[in-house]
Amino acid sequence: MASRRFTVLTLLALVIFFLSQVRAVNELDYQRIKVKPSVSPFESALVLLQQQINYTFLKIDRLRRAMTHPSFSEENNRALSILGFNVIDTFVSMLALGNDIDISPKELNRLISEISKVETSCAADGMRLGLHKIVRISAKTNSTTPSVVCGAFRATFGAIAIDSGKSDVAGSAFWYVHTGKAEKALAL
Ligand SMILES: *[C@@H]1O[C@H](CO)[C@@H](O)[C@H](O)[C@H]1NC(C)=O
Ligand SMILES: *[C@@H]1O[C@H](CO)[C@@H](O)[C@H](O)[C@H]1NC(C)=O
Repeated sequence: MASRRFTVLTLLALVIFFLSQVRAVNELDYQRIKVKPSVSPFESALVLLQQQINYTFLKIDRLRRAMTHPSFSEENNRALSILGFNVIDTFVSMLALGNDIDISPKELNRLISEISKVETSCAADGMRLGLHKIVRISAKTNSTTPSVVCGAFRATFGAIAIDSGKSDVAGSAFWYVHTGKAEKALAL
């Protein structure tokens, strides 16, 4: 009889101990949630991206929009990517003609189409920046599709042009990313 009571008491003690542990863990979790900074992965990715492209936005909303695919929301990067395309086109034309005013139209067109190729240039540059991991898309969209990465890549420079009010600032940022080295601009 005594041993039975002992067993019951032991079990009771174990149960109380177990419950107190559960509660301690819950309190720990609660504290962890409380002290966790409220910065989302998307927002911290934008901070990092600005360092990668060597441009700090006056209004981060513009970069946020550049990283938003049309499948995600009505507010998206579609128009910014058209501007970005033209910014890149202009920058490359300026550079090429600046280097050689006698460049043939055929050669100039070749340079421009080379630099704006979706698969080999635009999407490759965008993947290198990791844009496929940042861009916001709908659940059924594949973020590594070249058109998605390209759209976000071009929109980044459209957004810089709007933010700085200067197309050449955006062009330089593009060249910095595309070549990996700004100084290479002199040796196209
Ligand atoms: C980054 O941008 C700053 C300011 O626009 C510029 O002075 C600096 O040279 C750039 N850094 C590189 C590595 O191009
Ligand atoms: C997403 O797109 C990439 C490039 O087009 C392709 O290689 C990959 O298989 C696709 N992934 C899925 C899950 O469809």
